[in-house]
Amino acid sequence: MVWVRIAVANNKGGAGKTTVIAYLAEALAARGRRVLAIDMDPQANLSRRLGYGEAELVDMVTTAEVVAANQKGCAADGIVGCRWSLRAHPGLVEHIDVLPARYDLEARVSEAGTLGAHERLERSLEGIGEDYDVVFLDCPPSLGHLTQLGLAAADTVLLVLRPEYDHLQGAIRVRDFVDTYRRHLGRPHLGIAGVVINEHDRRRGLHHWHTDSVTDAFGALLWSPPVPSRAALAEAIDAAAPLRARGAGARPLIEVFAALADHLEAHAHAAA
Ligand SMILES: Nc1ncnc2c1ncn2[C@@H]1O[C@H](COP(=O)(O)OP(=O)(O)O)[C@@H](O)[C@H]1O
Ligand SMILES: [Mg+2]
Repeated sequence: MVWVRIAVANNKGGAGKTTVIAYLAEALAARGRRVLAIDMDPQANLSRRLGYGEAELVDMVTTAEVVAANQKGCAADGIVGCRWSLRAHPGLVEHIDVLPARYDLEARVSEAGTLGAHERLERSLEGIGEDYDVVFLDCPPSLGHLTQLGLAAADTVLLVLRPEYDHLQGAIRVRDFVDTYRRHLGRPHLGIAGVVINEHDRRRGLHHWHTDSVTDAFGALLWSPPVPSRAALAEAIDAAAPLRARGAGARPLIEVFAALADHLEAHAHAAA
């Protein structure tokens, strides 16, 4: 049985949502958990980072087709394996699957007015849960239809933000949106599982200040440690590579994501 379906969101772009999903997926897979990563962003960054670039995606079944089909369990038609090359860690990649997105996922937005349109992704995932421990839903930086599809298919929400004013505001807007609309989304128990601070730089006073602001706004929901700002991380993202393929510079980051994975597991167990 699936432990948790977790939508990762912020109403602000460039927060690190997709980064946190990719490397939490790696951390969970490294301990034998089975992960499905669903890309609900037409930018398709998560798809590329897990091995599916624009050229491959042309002929694939992606979230755009799955949502349009609106059939029970039809997400299975688009789920493929992660394509990281990780020779030193055989078996890890087999634990990560992806339902990729293409830029034309945007076309689903025009159907938002149709009755029940926001339930289409959730319907497509019926019966899929048996194969995974954790399902991530990577939302675009909006509160519009694509994010609503993700929220309506989620058990809980993870907020990711940089320690900056606009990012905190974006995260608070997601929380308030969930508070106001959870019933309309068909998820009366939907709430926030945690908050991850990304690209933290401890040399910057502003970042300390905003870490305090995040604690004021979210209290114990703030997961620790923050993900530090590191060239090694930006380089891994750019190369669409797992941290375990990146050498010494990435090693401390492996520890950070392992600690965040502990929070996720603790939340999933508490909610079960
Ligand atoms: N911890 C980090 N350290 C350095 N660069 C980062 C870090 N996290 C994210 N980035 C950079 O920020 C960009 C945006 O991150 P991304 O995960 O795509 O954000 P989002 O999905 O919220 O839009 C990445 O492409 C990467 O270059
Ligand atoms: Mg993203």
